[in-house]
Amino acid sequence: MKIAADEKKKVFLLHTKNTTYGIAIIDDRYVGHLYYGRYLEDADIRYLLREDEGPRTPSVNLREKGAFLDCAPMEYPETGMGDYRESALCIRDARGFRASELFYEGYEILNGKPGLEGLPASWGSREDCMTLKIFCRDEVLGMKVTLLYSVFEESDVITRSVLVENQGKEPFYIEKVLSACLDMDDRDFQVLGLFGSWARERHIQRMDLGYGRQNLASFKGESSHQEHPFLALVTPETTQDTGEVYAMNFVYSGNFLAQAEKSQFDSVRMLMGIHPEGFTWKLEPGACFTAPETVLVYSDQGLGHMTRTFHDFYRNHLIRSPYLHKKRPILINNWEATYFDFDEKKLLEIAKDASELGIEMLVMDDGWFGKRNLDDSSLGDWYVNEEKIKGGLNALVENVKKLGMKFGIWIEPEMISPDSELYRQHPDWAIQIPGRSITQSRAQYVLDLSRDEVVDGVYEKIAAVIRSADISYVKWDMNRQLTTMGSCCLPGDRQGELYHRYMLGVYKMQERLLADFPDLLLENCSGGGARFDAGMLYYSPQIWCSDDTDAIERLAIQEGTALLYPVSAMGAHVSVCPNHSVGRVTPFETRGDVALLGTFGYELDITKLSPEEKALVKEQVKKYHQYNDLIREGDYYRLASYRENGYYDSWMIVEKDKSRALLFYVQVRARANAKSRMLRLKGLDPQRRYLAEEKEYQGNTLLQAGIRIPAEMGDFRSRLVEIREIP
Ligand code: GLA
Repeated sequence: MKIAADEKKKVFLLHTKNTTYGIAIIDDRYVGHLYYGRYLEDADIRYLLREDEGPRTPSVNLREKGAFLDCAPMEYPETGMGDYRESALCIRDARGFRASELFYEGYEILNGKPGLEGLPASWGSREDCMTLKIFCRDEVLGMKVTLLYSVFEESDVITRSVLVENQGKEPFYIEKVLSACLDMDDRDFQVLGLFGSWARERHIQRMDLGYGRQNLASFKGESSHQEHPFLALVTPETTQDTGEVYAMNFVYSGNFLAQAEKSQFDSVRMLMGIHPEGFTWKLEPGACFTAPETVLVYSDQGLGHMTRTFHDFYRNHLIRSPYLHKKRPILINNWEATYFDFDEKKLLEIAKDASELGIEMLVMDDGWFGKRNLDDSSLGDWYVNEEKIKGGLNALVENVKKLGMKFGIWIEPEMISPDSELYRQHPDWAIQIPGRSITQSRAQYVLDLSRDEVVDGVYEKIAAVIRSADISYVKWDMNRQLTTMGSCCLPGDRQGELYHRYMLGVYKMQERLLADFPDLLLENCSGGGARFDAGMLYYSPQIWCSDDTDAIERLAIQEGTALLYPVSAMGAHVSVCPNHSVGRVTPFETRGDVALLGTFGYELDITKLSPEEKALVKEQVKKYHQYNDLIREGDYYRLASYRENGYYDSWMIVEKDKSRALLFYVQVRARANAKSRMLRLKGLDPQRRYLAEEKEYQGNTLLQAGIRIPAEMGDFRSRLVEIREIP
């Protein structure tokens, strides 16, 4: 049984293959948290609540409400009644009072998993998962809250979200509605998160959890370059292969809060949801608010197991694209090759040389529309600039197709340039606060996608472009954060809904694009990787990882990204040297090997490559075809991190049946007087025999003693080793 409800003991147990999650009803009223962790067979765990122990202060009265609420483990804590730890829900009623108190009403268990209206979410069949709904009510407000838990037994994953309904007579305001809360018993934890900046996204950061609150957050209107909607609590000894990990990841692309808090009683509360900063939602009688989903993963086998659990879950139950399990066309993008300085002739020259080397798709990046020759105009004017693309888009695409290549195009539908026909026609379409100047960023404003006419108006223009030629791929970009949050169409007491309504508008547009163009390969992007998150993966099977294409900078970016997300989703390209972001010069081979851990493509002026480099492109194309099935579908193991050791980086992809693997090794810095390194492999079958670099090994030898990696002269050297089972 995936979900067991003991009505007498008022205990719910949710089981996955290796984990158990326990909930108990306290005093017939409160929904309390019992347990989350390694699988428990014994259902008799109510004692974990310590119901007979009083808090020491301010009273020994066991059920004095304030003291009780501030230390009881809660499933969904609220503001205003005595729990002073961070709450998950805060309601202000029509009279201005801020409080709510949820009492348990009942439950329902169903096979499968209902969708979340308007939101990305994981999905599964009746065989894959079961859902527990716990119903609670606040009588004073007439508010019904449904806590949703879906249990994916085989995947070892539990997902959570929340529905808030107004069944009363007066409207009320939701000022905070997080999606998941986990109250854990005292344990020493470290906080592990992803932190970065533009061109330095998702670097892994780990620190001790002290008393008080530590959080990662965004209120930029996007999941952001800087902090990431992911949080893991790990025991201090946790490595890739050992130790405990509690992880939460948010299936949402806008503002978020991910927080851990250690209380006076050493209990730890972990929370995730939409950031309350700038958020208020007016709920009219009869209306319902759906909070986005949080994915929970527990691992007692270190970070590596957590990673592989997320990868499999997202590949099996989140990404919907028909391209997920397919080799994507190797693309060449003209951005770093030409920036805005191109015409159809230049693009065709690139396409011609690229096609001769086996590259399969040309992507025309920013600068093909309106009068855009720099990043200072025309967003919103989605028609082809025929001074640049002489003969029009269709002719260009047909000529590219004659070379045997597909064609892709860049768009940035969420934006509007102050210097655009669209803005001159519809100045009110920009997000703005009347009377204040609108903040410009990259000389652009953001469209008010909370309005249906704006979503429809822009979508129609984009769709017309895609219909006008045989377009196989779209790169959907989003190049600035949100500011001066105001919508011309929302009443005063609904302006706090704009951030979330904006995200709903983005999701609606992408959903429509996929419905209208089911064969389209969509790649999301946001100034590099500011929206590389589980929400966007529901719409696109790949996301541009970072504007930094330097092979060495990419090691930490791709390590952090692959901590959670399948490598088949990581947009990665080979670019020229000196690298445009850091000026570093790395071998062409290394750039290719690092980009293989992703969707793979090129982002350079191929017409300017030397004959030697062109020969290397051919070899890389061959490697891609040879290894992409394995890389896309296999299990990812992290062997070493340059971030930690300062010298080398290494990872492996192992075929699910362990018959084949690919080892990646990058010697970032050469060392004088160095010996070869014995690198211990992971994921292989200890009993089977394998062949690697023409030598035979027993699997166990490779796991325990390692494979020999010679020290090389020179920095930034990479090595790719295929390991095959000997039949
Ligand atoms: C963003 C993207 C780049 C490129 C430019 C175009 O920065 O991340 O890849 O498309 O926009 O303006």
